[in-house]
Amino acid sequence: MSSIVDVVGGNRIVPVVVLDDPAAAEPLADALVAGGLPIAEVTFRTDAAAAAIARMARHGGVTVGAGTVTTPAQVDAAVAAGAKFVVSPGLSAAVVTRCRFHNVAALPGATTATEIMAALELGVDVLKFFPAGTSGGARAVAALAAPFAQVRFVPTGGIDASNVRDYLAVPSVLAVGGSWMVPRASIAAGDFATVTALTAEAVAAAA
Ligand code: 3PG
Repeated sequence: MSSIVDVVGGNRIVPVVVLDDPAAAEPLADALVAGGLPIAEVTFRTDAAAAAIARMARHGGVTVGAGTVTTPAQVDAAVAAGAKFVVSPGLSAAVVTRCRFHNVAALPGATTATEIMAALELGVDVLKFFPAGTSGGARAVAALAAPFAQVRFVPTGGIDASNVRDYLAVPSVLAVGGSWMVPRASIAAGDFATVTALTAEAVAAAA
């Protein structure tokens, strides 16, 4: 399985996108690049997800992954569309196994010691921590690092420009995910200038 650490690269924030129209893929990719975050997690929460991933992959300016992936069939669809990484809200052995079959990076979710131990048994040591805000926030991530020093986390859920630094200051945090720089309404309205401005603000807040 290719490594999520390599795929995320130096990006310390992963925009989590809900797209209603695949035609927004290219202008959204341009807006993220212009704001300084050339990466996007396109969630399988809309029917547009696979087509949008394919268009972003062809665009080439961003590293594109799939989010909200809960079944092996969605892994197949994501990989066929060109996703370079696959994010799940929770831990599914079937999803992880399917990612491994395709040699695509997997980022499953875990928020408890029990879930982390299950992930480690599957050979996964980079985990989404979701929903971060209601699961104890940055302090919970820091506390889990004590028994699980080998694990790196990507907290997601309830993060914005006001608290992103709290998470990124935790040594075990590889990156954070969030939707605050890609408002669904702005994208639907074709307001990509707002996406670029919020993305640049997020990058500045994380610096
Ligand atoms: C996700 O799927 O990762 C979350 O819905 C993103 O959470 P946020 O919208 O609170 O940033």
